[in-house]
Amino acid sequence: MDKRNQKLRNMLQMALLRLKEKDTLKKIELSWGENKEIIEVDSKNPLQLIFQEQTFKREFLPQFLEKKLENKERAEIKIIERGTVIKLSLLPSDVKMEINTQDQQTQHTRPPEFGTRQNFIRAGEAQELLKTLDIMSPEGQIKADKRRKYFQVDRFVELIDEIIKDHPDDKKFSILDCGCGKSYLSFVLNYWLTEKKRVPCRVIGIDENSEVIEKSKKIQKKLGYNNMEFRQGKIMDFKPSYPIDMVLSLHACDTATDEALALGIYLKSKYIIAVPCCQAALHNKINFTPWEGIDRHRVFHNRLADIFTDGVRVSALEAKNYRVSVVEYVSPLETPKNIMLRATSGYPQPGAGERLKNLKKQVSREIPLENFLKTFKQL
Ligand SMILES: C[S@@+](CC[C@H](N)C(=O)[O-])C[C@H]1O[C@@H](n2cnc3c(N)ncnc32)[C@H](O)[C@@H]1O
Repeated sequence: MDKRNQKLRNMLQMALLRLKEKDTLKKIELSWGENKEIIEVDSKNPLQLIFQEQTFKREFLPQFLEKKLENKERAEIKIIERGTVIKLSLLPSDVKMEINTQDQQTQHTRPPEFGTRQNFIRAGEAQELLKTLDIMSPEGQIKADKRRKYFQVDRFVELIDEIIKDHPDDKKFSILDCGCGKSYLSFVLNYWLTEKKRVPCRVIGIDENSEVIEKSKKIQKKLGYNNMEFRQGKIMDFKPSYPIDMVLSLHACDTATDEALALGIYLKSKYIIAVPCCQAALHNKINFTPWEGIDRHRVFHNRLADIFTDGVRVSALEAKNYRVSVVEYVSPLETPKNIMLRATSGYPQPGAGERLKNLKKQVSREIPLENFLKTFKQL
């Protein structure tokens, strides 16, 4: 093997090493003279590459390129990852490597968009993501009617980033989004983790509605996020094939919030995040003695019941050794369903069992979360 080929092979091995454990590769572009060829990543298996309908394993890329370019005096290889482009320039007797990356999470190339905080998801850098999610116009401006959504997305990432600080950056992080809908926030979280923080991760979105699953798959394909998968199904039927680090449930309706919380506990997920939507399951079961004077007004009853229900959820998580923080995710003017519960396991909470017992006395000792947990254990 001549010296140039040996150098090319070494550099490609280095590039592949970078990709190990990560599914961030988007494509590889080869060019020489007027010619350009593209090697795609197999969307069903990110460890496989496709060239002119032939598939081969990613680990054989060095040999493949060596053969393809062996008689070319000059050529260029671009290994395009999300957030990074590695350019290898083949010269007559040498190979040069250039890495253009946005690795550093603090390195933002454009000032924030006017009227937004943009601490995490910067418009200048996340254009592909924001355009695909229809938050940004094709010209690169945040759409006027999507500013609130944009703010929510940034705030969401901020709140998640805060609690996963203790997760080692090189350990694969797995996320399950229960009742994912069109999976907006999971796409954004995936962008943040893989492209900005460079944490290898995989995301599963489940939803019982096949239409939203199809929509999510389309967005995923467009973005080339091969580390994400979407499945149609019910939360109660979910069977993981690997440990889940974080269970998410955002505005999941009906009993889905409690199902997701129970699933997170059952799977022993380190983190459980919920923005509850419906709190109806307990509404007519709560004994508000001695607050009948307040409870007799419907509006008060609903608000008290909502708070009581979320409070019971927090207590149930605490009784399972989760440390829980309760925050206002967005302004209550945007949505009254703006409470986010963030739970981290491994923190026994003194008195939590007793507190839960007392709350349960107010609802005839039955709470949905515990009932779903029992069901999981019986399955
Ligand atoms: C209001 S949407 C929220 C979607 C998304 N999480 C978001 O924040 O934009 C609630 C979603 O939960 C799904 N869902 C409700 N109950 C479910 C269950 N038991 N299992 C799976 N999906 C469920 C619905 O089909 C719907 O797509």
